[in-house]
Amino acid sequence: MALINENYLKLAGSYLFRETAHRTAAYKEAHPSADVISLGIGDVTLPLPDACIQAMHKAVDEMGDATTFRGYGPEQGYGFLIDAIIENNYKKYGIEKDEVFVSDGAKSDCGNIQEIFSSDNTIAITDPVYPVYLDTNVMAGRTGTLQKDGRYEGVTYLPCSAENDFVPALPEKRVDLIYLCSPNNPTGTALTRDQLKVWVDYARENDSIILFDAAYSAYISEPEVPHTIFEIEGAKDVAIEFRSFSKTAGFTGTRCGYIVLPKTVMGKTLDGSKKPLNPLWNRRHTTKFNGTAYIIQRGAAAIFTPEGKKQVQASIDYYMENARLIRDGISEVGITCFGGVNSPYIWLKTPNNMPSWDFFDKLLNDVNIVGTPGAGFGPCGEGYFRLTAFGSREKTKEAIERIKHNLKL
Ligand code: MLT
Repeated sequence: MALINENYLKLAGSYLFRETAHRTAAYKEAHPSADVISLGIGDVTLPLPDACIQAMHKAVDEMGDATTFRGYGPEQGYGFLIDAIIENNYKKYGIEKDEVFVSDGAKSDCGNIQEIFSSDNTIAITDPVYPVYLDTNVMAGRTGTLQKDGRYEGVTYLPCSAENDFVPALPEKRVDLIYLCSPNNPTGTALTRDQLKVWVDYARENDSIILFDAAYSAYISEPEVPHTIFEIEGAKDVAIEFRSFSKTAGFTGTRCGYIVLPKTVMGKTLDGSKKPLNPLWNRRHTTKFNGTAYIIQRGAAAIFTPEGKKQVQASIDYYMENARLIRDGISEVGITCFGGVNSPYIWLKTPNNMPSWDFFDKLLNDVNIVGTPGAGFGPCGEGYFRLTAFGSREKTKEAIERIKHNLKL
């Protein structure tokens, strides 16, 4: 019989959003007439921008004509999309064509990137954290077992809570790989340029690499928050950035994202020689991935057209108005909340320090609203709870009214 990868047995329960979906489905089955509103998983509700739809229709027509039909495309992505990404997001930072790799989304990229690193590397993650970073390292055997305190042996956790304004402190012991997400999922807070510089400097001094998830950068509203880690001097030697069209332009179902991996980012071999990581990722990408669909890449490129930009901004404004409504409503009932200014997530303190899964059940039972328990994102998420601003305006308003009038605190 084949031996299994026993690292999978170290994983805690099921993937967070499967667990919340499972509990929600059980509630709905038991209460078929309940009008359940989901402010749980960060899934968008507005349709794709019209510019994307037009571009995708055109691409479909091209695929139906022998003279314009396309089969396999470049694994790294089509030049038209990579050029648009660089022109709009990275030109100032000198990012080159072969440093951008288009993919089917940031979740896959954040999960897959660890493959190009030795399993002996040490990792640091913020706590709470988007579960993909940690779970994929558990799967790869880069951690020990799950301890009673909810932490994996061998992982450096960087606590982020109201006490430190959700800004992680540098690790006491040197680490090889550091996962940072800003604007942050789940806390909805963001690192300023100065705060991020501390990490870039640390990575440079310690030969560490920062895996920087910027999936929510389109939501930044404050001028001191950087849109890309490459705004920070020296980051091109130590950082890999993950970006996504999902939350930016409604591609959660359509799937498209990309990695920026500068050729100057180095790792080392066992004999101590330095090697660039970019060719390793290129090798991995070309071996395991056949490229994002042409039609989807055409849709993605359309967000960089003048109409596309306007439409994307309109969607972001819409969600950020939801975020404001949630923040105001939640604050009105006396619940402390964070985030929602540079990100579509609102991170609230559970009333009376209620355990976050208990608050999940209470919210579902009292007012038929689904959120995400903070504890699902890590031990420091206990006592917190996440709501997303990605619902429709109508449902968001309705949810706030229910919380104001029917939640028994
Ligand atoms: C979330 O709710 O945290 C996200 O939607 C999950 C994801 O992007 O994979």
